[in-house]
Amino acid sequence: MDRKFLATLRSLEEIGINEIYGFKSKAEEPDKKIMLEDLFKRLSAEKKCILYEGSGGYVFGDGNPDSPVVFVGEAPGEEEDRQKKPFVGKAGRYLNTKLEEVGLKREEVYITNVVKSRPPGNRKPTKEEMMSCLPYLRKEIDIIKPKLLVCLGSTALEGLLGKSLPVTKHRGQLFEYPYNRNIKVFLTYHPAYVLRNPSADKEFTEDMKRIKELLERL
Ligand code: URA
Repeated sequence: MDRKFLATLRSLEEIGINEIYGFKSKAEEPDKKIMLEDLFKRLSAEKKCILYEGSGGYVFGDGNPDSPVVFVGEAPGEEEDRQKKPFVGKAGRYLNTKLEEVGLKREEVYITNVVKSRPPGNRKPTKEEMMSCLPYLRKEIDIIKPKLLVCLGSTALEGLLGKSLPVTKHRGQLFEYPYNRNIKVFLTYHPAYVLRNPSADKEFTEDMKRIKELLERL
């Protein structure tokens, strides 16, 4: 599908037209990879996702656009800023190991962040910063249409759903995704938290197993 046609579809979508009669057959479904590339171009051009100034630029999501699961982190760190890919530092390597332990490969899943550029000194992004990036995250999810969104840590949940809940109490819980009833939201620890608190490793592994099961069931 060519870019011009995609741009037309996007303009229609912006005025509330989401389906065109005769355009629902599988073969004609828009190419998710191209749509994600276009979204990244839009994010880079609009610069509405604040925090951009002073950072090394935007770090967009990465992975398989047809994945049934999207992992959502907080914000890129130093290594992610350098490589322009999410979760490629220490926490990312740990996450990869855990994915493999339950039979999921990193390249099979899609990984992204609530905010798309690195906060100064790796501080937690503010509500305003998260809100400014939310339309891009929502659009990213809308393109991928996964079965499951996995929030890695309480900041990811707060950024995505506006709920501020302690992970220790609410991990493993499923939430509704208010913008699409077919998508569920699962909360677990942030991998960096587990690295700092090795006693949480067992629970994180349990959550990963549950994610794998949910993907087979949902
Ligand atoms: N932590 C995050 O939340 N996201 C990354 O991409 C890396 C570390």
